[in-house]
Amino acid sequence: MALAYEKYLQEILIDESTLQKRVIELGQQISDDYAAFDDLLLICVLKGGVMFLTDLMRHIDTPHEIDFLAISSYGKGVRESSGNVRIEMDLSVQVRDRHILIVEDIIDSGNTLRFVMDMLEARKPASLKLCTLLDKASRRTVPIPVDYTGFQIEDKFVFGYGLDLDDKFRNLPFIGVVSLDALKHE
Ligand code: IMP
Ligand code: MG
Repeated sequence: MALAYEKYLQEILIDESTLQKRVIELGQQISDDYAAFDDLLLICVLKGGVMFLTDLMRHIDTPHEIDFLAISSYGKGVRESSGNVRIEMDLSVQVRDRHILIVEDIIDSGNTLRFVMDMLEARKPASLKLCTLLDKASRRTVPIPVDYTGFQIEDKFVFGYGLDLDDKFRNLPFIGVVSLDALKHE
């Protein structure tokens, strides 16, 4: 029997071993860059960033803490974010004077990250950097400085490895391109 996700999968864009290799490289780079610090705080943006965070942190050997932030955006429908972003769940720790690295699944328009970065900047961290697994740079409407990028991707709707298709299939170990045909026929 076909697995539930298969009808939505047009193609695998980034397979599991390619993802894992890149995550290791990013972890090593972050470990080197933060080697002199012992108060690194990784902030994962829920829910999409969660699989990336848990894999990435295994490869960061600088002592660090993790915390979570949940945000949502409303306005343009489920597959496109709007400028209307709000906090669903705030951090449980203070960020003032700490070295912060945001861990995100994907940057599309940049609206979500702009909101998150402005909010965190206002809390006066010692430093604020951003690590995203995927970047759809061609879609950007709001400029976002990205410090670590896993992969640049084209303007296609993707799912798996934390990213959802209508809130499902975040568990897939690869990044797949959504079949627009399959969605149209629903
Ligand atoms: P932005 O605010 O337009 O940059 O959108 C960022 C958020 O939209 C991401 O954190 C994801 O949650 C979601 N998103 C954008 N593109 C995709 C995609 O291709 N698949 C799944 N979620 C996406
Ligand atoms: Mg996200």
